[in-house]
Amino acid sequence: MHETLLLFGATGDLTQRYLFPSLANLLRDRLLPPAFRVVAVARHEYTDQEFRVALGAAMAAKVGIDTNAPEIADLLARTRYIAADLADPANIAAALGHLAGPPCVSFLATPPGLFVPISRGLKSAGLLDAPSRLVLEKPIGRDLASAREIIAAIDACVSEDRVFRIDHYLGKAPVQNLLALRFGNALLEAVWNRQWIDSVDIVVAETAGVDGREGYYADYGALRDMVQNHILQLLCLIAMEPPASLDADAVRNEKVKVLRALRPMSGAAANADSVRGRYEAGVVSGRAAAAFRQPAGVAPTDTFVALRAYIDNWRWEGVPFRLCTGKRLAERYTQIVITFRHVSHWLFEKPSREKATPNRMVFRLQPEENIELGLMSSLAAPDWGALELQPLPLDLSMPVSPRRRIAYERLLLDALNGNTALFVRNDEVEAAWSWIDSVADAWRLAGTPILPYLAGSWGPAEAAGYLQGAARKGG
Ligand code: BG6
Repeated sequence: MHETLLLFGATGDLTQRYLFPSLANLLRDRLLPPAFRVVAVARHEYTDQEFRVALGAAMAAKVGIDTNAPEIADLLARTRYIAADLADPANIAAALGHLAGPPCVSFLATPPGLFVPISRGLKSAGLLDAPSRLVLEKPIGRDLASAREIIAAIDACVSEDRVFRIDHYLGKAPVQNLLALRFGNALLEAVWNRQWIDSVDIVVAETAGVDGREGYYADYGALRDMVQNHILQLLCLIAMEPPASLDADAVRNEKVKVLRALRPMSGAAANADSVRGRYEAGVVSGRAAAAFRQPAGVAPTDTFVALRAYIDNWRWEGVPFRLCTGKRLAERYTQIVITFRHVSHWLFEKPSREKATPNRMVFRLQPEENIELGLMSSLAAPDWGALELQPLPLDLSMPVSPRRRIAYERLLLDALNGNTALFVRNDEVEAAWSWIDSVADAWRLAGTPILPYLAGSWGPAEAAGYLQGAARKGG
């Protein structure tokens, strides 16, 4: 296990909200090596002590961390701070060169525009020599062309097997459980295809807005911020062929095949197969929420997107995958719903075949984790007349782990240990961008409008069909 973590973007939101709290939890649970240390790097001029105080205050304000907890004191004592101009490779090499020697992990929690200069600086300082590793936070670029440029420039600095591209959804335990469910149950193996599955819904609904991140978000929108990575990764886990083993590349080979089989969206299909929205002022969870503020001079951005996608392969031909995500919606939840086809021959008087509810399998990943299987059972009607089929929902709550881990805890450990299984390979990134580009191009060709919706609602009314199949229990 590598013992030194170089953390770039050390004064940023991700570092304060997730990375340092994750490291503190890992330290508390004694999962890090005894000599573990952090070198925090950012532009700002701080002494070590000033940085520690500022970081502690930010963690307390943003995630309620108790700065008196022993693991926080321990983590801060292991943290040094170095100021560097992250856009200048020579400056980075000069500031960090003295650290060369022992293998380290460099984590770039910075905007993608800084990935290449930082990597070049690290390389010339000898900090990317094998077996040192590089961790990149999403997004890798903004489209296929920019992603390719970044991938090629980084490839010139460090070999692919030592590059760890984060999609933090892959670090979430319930997301990993999808693999267990799919490939651990003969019951599902038999029906997991177009013959038995009618449609798949993936919804990531958020109550949070984009407050404080308007600059980044306005340039990306929901399509690039959420669909390109998290939602397409969920889609891959649902749709991929069984890998021959759980080896990192065996799984990633199957995921990339799914991404490459996604049918590019055409201009002709754009308006029928997608809805874009942007939130207006409203009320979320009983509190007033302001409208999304579009920065001046930037093309209008979506904060909500719903898409109908198709995977053109033997298993999934013709099965719609409805993908939907939005900010400032009525509730926060992440859910995947598999809707099965109707039985082949209908025997019952009530309900009619058309009105019958098909079997559904619901994986709820956030905020709670459970699985619901919607079966049907037959009950005699009260007057002992017609046989009326009744739904029988089976609720399978997952065993609750004593403490939910932050997704980054698992990913940081894997990067320090050199385990690439939960990281995204360069060809996956490219294949995902290639499909996302087709959607962005189709919107441009079709002039797909961005529809307003009230903060605290379920998005534009036009998108109701994308949320119906995935409606929450009682929702
Ligand atoms: C991030 C996006 O990658 O994921 C955010 O940039 C989004 O906009 C977040 O809010 C959602 O993650 P989670 O773990 O809260 O579902």
